[in-house]
Amino acid sequence: MTIADVRPKPAVPAPNDLESFWLPFTPNRAFKRAPRLIVRAKDMHYYTPDGRAVLDGTAGLWCTNAGHNRDPIVAAIQRQAEELDYAPAFQFAHPKSFELASRIAALAPGDLDRVFFCNSGSEAVDTALKIALAYHNVRGEGSRTRLIGRERGYHGVGFGGISVGGIVANRKLFGTLLAGVDHLPATYNREQQAFTKGEPDWGGHLADELERIVALHDASTIAAVIVEPMAGSTGVLPPPKGYLQKLRAICDRHGIVLIFDEVITGFGRLGYAFAAERYGVIPDLITFAKGVTSGAVPMAGVIARDGIYAAFMRGPEHVVELFHGYTYSAHPLACAAGLATLDLYRDEKLFERAHALEPKWADAAMSLKGLPGVLDIRTVGITAGIDLAPRAGASGLRGYETMERAFHHENLMVRIAGDTIELMPPLIVSEQQIGEIFDKVGRVIRAVG
Ligand SMILES: Cc1ncc(COP(=O)(O)O)c(C=O)c1O
Repeated sequence: MTIADVRPKPAVPAPNDLESFWLPFTPNRAFKRAPRLIVRAKDMHYYTPDGRAVLDGTAGLWCTNAGHNRDPIVAAIQRQAEELDYAPAFQFAHPKSFELASRIAALAPGDLDRVFFCNSGSEAVDTALKIALAYHNVRGEGSRTRLIGRERGYHGVGFGGISVGGIVANRKLFGTLLAGVDHLPATYNREQQAFTKGEPDWGGHLADELERIVALHDASTIAAVIVEPMAGSTGVLPPPKGYLQKLRAICDRHGIVLIFDEVITGFGRLGYAFAAERYGVIPDLITFAKGVTSGAVPMAGVIARDGIYAAFMRGPEHVVELFHGYTYSAHPLACAAGLATLDLYRDEKLFERAHALEPKWADAAMSLKGLPGVLDIRTVGITAGIDLAPRAGASGLRGYETMERAFHHENLMVRIAGDTIELMPPLIVSEQQIGEIFDKVGRVIRAVG
């Protein structure tokens, strides 16, 4: 049998044929048997083809922090599409790209002032890793080539990101990955940390593992350390108290570039513009994506400290300083969406709102403690991770059933990471909707059993 035998092509493709689309990070056969389709959205809700309103417990995919289809963002995209559809960012530029970069730099702490644009979190991660390597090179420290990530880390799906990432399923099918990568241990320990609101007391000492790695390889070979300030995709793991501060101190001691991957923690998720501000730690590079446009147009980027940018600004002025970039870096539609989104965050004080709501959010999440199969609940900012006991011999099945039941029976979108339920609604969520989210999740957990 050849591949062509499997599925004869129809003369005219059926508009409702589900077969051609190979869905990302989705069990395709199960999905196509019982699809979860969404046709429209507004504010806190998605709508299905049959008109059901589904409460968005996940800000889409950690991105629609301002809520869905907000009028100012939609209008800004429409206006931009009429005015300038595309302009190259190599050797040319359009004004909104500078305006957005300045606005993002103003939100970032300290001297994180230089913004390099890309289109996805994965690209932002690869960009940050490349900037770190090149930075050492241009300063004459080209022996610094090693990259240090962390177990259970998620940094997207580029080869750089999966190499420094620590989620086994995302790595094991893809060969040897980048050479010269090492990993810090994950910061999670259920015995020590279960049912903690915010940053756990236990675990700050795990940052000392970086000293062990430096001792093993020698600082002169290490370029960068990359961590998510709060590990999101692995199930919401807030950083232990003092952990990030220790990483910063060790990196300073050894001249290592510290990268915070803020693709999901940026733009208000933890009650601040960036997690770096919440934790009072200034990394050398921050990656961002998702919330910068509230998910409305793909956009991402890297924010660099002044000293890093300055290190590249040398040599003849007609020569490109960093041989890196994307056709759609600083795309006009994305810049317009980004500016309108930042206006909304400012005008509606959405980061402050997230900060103020955090205690209520955490209490509501913890109300599920004691339900059958709930092993742990973690919260930080407007995020929650709820670990469910895996079914014997079928890891991830209970989580999958939970997600399906929430969507079809409770009109709620939740995200799952294996048997962990993840919740992170848009930051416009009301107190009443917070109650609704956890009531629904509680009913689903009981029903799935
Ligand atoms: C911390 C982190 N980095 C990178 C990424 C990758 O982003 P993208 O899917 O836009 O490539 C994600 C996505 O969730 C993320 O959570």
